[in-house]
Amino acid sequence: MTRILLNPGRRLGVLDRRVFGGFVEHLGRCIYGGLYEWGSSLSDVSGFRSDVFDHLKALRLGVLRWPGGNFASTYHFADGIGPNEDRPRRVDLAWGGDEPNHFGTDEFLAYCDKIGTEPYICLNMGTGTLDEALAWIEYCNSSRQTYWAEQRRNNGRKLPYGVSLWALGNEMYGDWQVGSRSATEYVSEATRWARAIRMLDPNAKLVSCGMSGWNEWDRLVIDKMAGLVDFHSIHFYSGSEDYWANVLQPHQLERAIELAAGMIRRAAYEQGLAKVPRVAVDEWNVWFRTFGSTNLEERYQFADALAVGTYLNIFIRNCAWVKMANLAQMVNAIAPIVTTPSAAALQPIYYPFLLHSEGALDEAVDAYVSGPTVELPSQVNWGIWEHRIDDLAPFALVDVAATVDRNRTKLSLALVNRGDNSAERVEVELLEGVFGPNARIRVLTAASELAKRVLPDVEPVDLEEVKEAPRGEVLVLDLPPRSFTMIETTLQ
Ligand code: AHR
Ligand code: AHR
Repeated sequence: MTRILLNPGRRLGVLDRRVFGGFVEHLGRCIYGGLYEWGSSLSDVSGFRSDVFDHLKALRLGVLRWPGGNFASTYHFADGIGPNEDRPRRVDLAWGGDEPNHFGTDEFLAYCDKIGTEPYICLNMGTGTLDEALAWIEYCNSSRQTYWAEQRRNNGRKLPYGVSLWALGNEMYGDWQVGSRSATEYVSEATRWARAIRMLDPNAKLVSCGMSGWNEWDRLVIDKMAGLVDFHSIHFYSGSEDYWANVLQPHQLERAIELAAGMIRRAAYEQGLAKVPRVAVDEWNVWFRTFGSTNLEERYQFADALAVGTYLNIFIRNCAWVKMANLAQMVNAIAPIVTTPSAAALQPIYYPFLLHSEGALDEAVDAYVSGPTVELPSQVNWGIWEHRIDDLAPFALVDVAATVDRNRTKLSLALVNRGDNSAERVEVELLEGVFGPNARIRVLTAASELAKRVLPDVEPVDLEEVKEAPRGEVLVLDLPPRSFTMIETTLQ
């Protein structure tokens, strides 16, 4: 049995809705033929696929990152504005395709507006210049009568968009990135950019380009740039055919967040910073089956959903430091939503994101978990990512994150049972107050009938709502093996 002791008064931090963020890149069929399909009977007048839109909207994204990823490092925003028929078709060096530029800044910002999410734009530090970055920001945000602001008005948008989140480049450390460079070179360039951007737009929130969170690159960038940015970004992918590697590797990201936060705290203390940047995990997901392909059309299985549920638990537990996280990506490319010309379907990783985003409340609270731990088999295939996590063992069989609302009248609990052969009884005990009469409990497991597939190669899941009345300060529940559970209760 697993015991979870909860004190709703022991806050871990305020949860930023931006941890339920997404990312869409010009890559394969993520934008074209995914989120945007001009001329399709499934699209609205703007060319936005309505079926995809509805599925994305249900996720209540706190933020949406665009246009890449690797793509951002050769993207010129001026190619993607103005009359569609005049926009140039360009070579995309990152993923090898052609970029028709039909979906550009105005389309992206209209999409964010329509879906009700905050835009987050990644600047081109590969082939782009500081001048171009300033032009992009002026185009989006300026209310002056100057050239780029006028271009925006000429293109039909009178009011400034007010985009505040801007990333200073994407993965500038990697040789797959056009324009990659050393950390020292990056820091000197990004410092120039940050200073100039702040002069143009004091409301800009800047994101420095980090790596894994624990790397020498991160250390240097944090040391030199912590005083100039609002976020330090890290990217994290995991996954393996091996069940245990797949479901446990997210814990390496928990370590990465702690180490990045440690380096930020050190820089902040040493430099006496008044404002301390936070961590943005602006790309994360399970990704290993299609690594090295150009369209990344990964088909997910249920174990991946358990990993995704765990990643989100980690963002909640570490919400004092993680103030943004972007699932990479949202449509077709390593994505929860996949399309054909006539349908959209949901992969297993969609559901833990949905339940988390629906269930999460304002503040994370501490959950003390005691119970069985994972017994790792002697041979584990850790897969392509080489995350070393053996030293983090033992891993609790049930991974837990808890949130409460501001007034502490509601409690939500996300539980990932990694146990692979038997149900696990869980006893949740409140150390303060008692449960209200009703608990809403939704349980996600692998599909019992594969016949329920919408598209032939997309695995369905079973999502069940069960009733379990708490008694006073205790709630007892049996979690099926390999399951994700979201409990929503009231507190008295
Ligand atoms: O999400 C796919 C790619 O992974 C992104 O373009 C890049 O930033 C990362 O390497
Ligand atoms: O495939 C090239 C790059 O290698 C990916 O974009 C990145 O995530 C990885 O490290």
